[in-house]
Amino acid sequence: MSTQVTTKRISTRDIRARKGGEPVVCLTAYTAPMAGFLDPHVDLLLVGDSLGMVLYGMDTTLGVTLDMMIEHGKAVMRGSRRACVVVDMPFGSYQESKEQAFRNAARIMRETGCAAVKLEGGVEMAETIRFLVERGIPVMAHVGLRPQAVHTAGGFRAHGRAEEEAAQIRADSLAVAEAGAFSVVVEGTVEPLARALTAEISIPTIGIGASPACDGQVLVSEDILGLFAEFQPKFVKRYANLGELVSQAAASYAEEVRARSFPGPEHCFGVKK
Ligand code: KIV
Repeated sequence: MSTQVTTKRISTRDIRARKGGEPVVCLTAYTAPMAGFLDPHVDLLLVGDSLGMVLYGMDTTLGVTLDMMIEHGKAVMRGSRRACVVVDMPFGSYQESKEQAFRNAARIMRETGCAAVKLEGGVEMAETIRFLVERGIPVMAHVGLRPQAVHTAGGFRAHGRAEEEAAQIRADSLAVAEAGAFSVVVEGTVEPLARALTAEISIPTIGIGASPACDGQVLVSEDILGLFAEFQPKFVKRYANLGELVSQAAASYAEEVRARSFPGPEHCFGVKK
């Protein structure tokens, strides 16, 4: 007889129901061990295509492939038990047509077992979002600063200061909510706009660099842990400096190996004294 206790995962419906209520806590995760550390503390784990920059050292997210997202999605599912896991659709895997988006989103859902996919875009992606949702694929949308559009947007910069841009982001948010997205990431927008959107649309807004005025927050875990030294966004608070600890540990190890004072098995973790 199996004594395994199964934990029910937080669903996309649970996240949707948090509109205007307890803030939704989200972090990115790309690997099984990190997912395990974060899982008890968050509502949602996002397997973001930021992994291209954070794990693979790319300059943008544009080089990330569907296969990469699927392998990391599987790892995060293996490492977590409770959080709602959402996997990003990478650049080029959904923009061509709603049929292409369905085919690739279905593959992500089938092969990883995740709860939903995330895709970037607003008004222009509304039809695709509706197509996916009507066919059983929950979608998290992503408006404001859209990293996959970095070349047309003129770099990574705050969005929504100019009136015209703010109006576009508002229209985008309304369109994705109307199309059936269960939540929307609002990235890099000014506070008055994030506040207005949050009041206006019916689904939770998940902010990143968009002020606390949203229904929830998402950050890149490596940013808050001090594990991504390349770039530190201004809005990120660093809760730990693990990069420094890794460097110190490696230096101590190197010193001991070079001094031939490398410890024996009595110093190893897991060996009973
Ligand atoms: O790719 C990612 O990690 C994201 C978050 C930063 C929202 O899209």
